[in-house]
Amino acid sequence: MTSTILIAYATRYGSTQEVAEAIADRLHERGLEVELKPIFEVSTLEPYRMIVLGGPIYMDRWHPEARRFLKRHYAALQEKPTAIFALGPIHQTPEEWQDAREQLDRALEKAPLLKPIAIEMFGGVISPAKLHFPFNHLKASDARNWTNIIDFADELAELSFIGRAVV
Ligand SMILES: Cc1cc2nc3c(=O)[nH]c(=O)nc-3n(C[C@H](O)[C@H](O)[C@H](O)COP(=O)(O)O)c2cc1C
Repeated sequence: MTSTILIAYATRYGSTQEVAEAIADRLHERGLEVELKPIFEVSTLEPYRMIVLGGPIYMDRWHPEARRFLKRHYAALQEKPTAIFALGPIHQTPEEWQDAREQLDRALEKAPLLKPIAIEMFGGVISPAKLHFPFNHLKASDARNWTNIIDFADELAELSFIGRAVV
């Protein structure tokens, strides 16, 4: 069996890509073989032993590429350990985090046979310079907590070691 972990991500403005890169770097530092790819470059999951799928939430929905990925690779994902992450909340209000998690859960409900080994929500980024009217009037912010992101990668590393020991 292959030893490579796939990190597949969707992004519109790059903040999810940066999180995916940080997770990939950390797994690599931990001695794991990792391939980092935008979702549109992934045609098959065959070469991978574990999948990490990430995408941002926009307008109350997980990124369409992430939702399509679940649908397209549904059967293969049930055969491999799969971890999920999303970016969204900008503020620290519990309501916003709960809403974002519900939005992610709604997307995952469409894939009920998938039992992710980990699911995580990270804060999102607003870069007004990259946005069109009226969103370019939002305040710039970056709610990503890099300690939590690295902790998530460490958790994935542990889970992947356990998975390998079992196989
Ligand atoms: C127009 C717009 C709509 C958004 N809608 C939501 C939303 O419904 N729920 C949420 O949690 N975050 C929402 N966000 C925050 C994004 O998820 C966040 O900006 C994320 O970091 C974007 O990722 P990307 O840079 O990879 O595209 C929205 C952001 C923008 C600019």
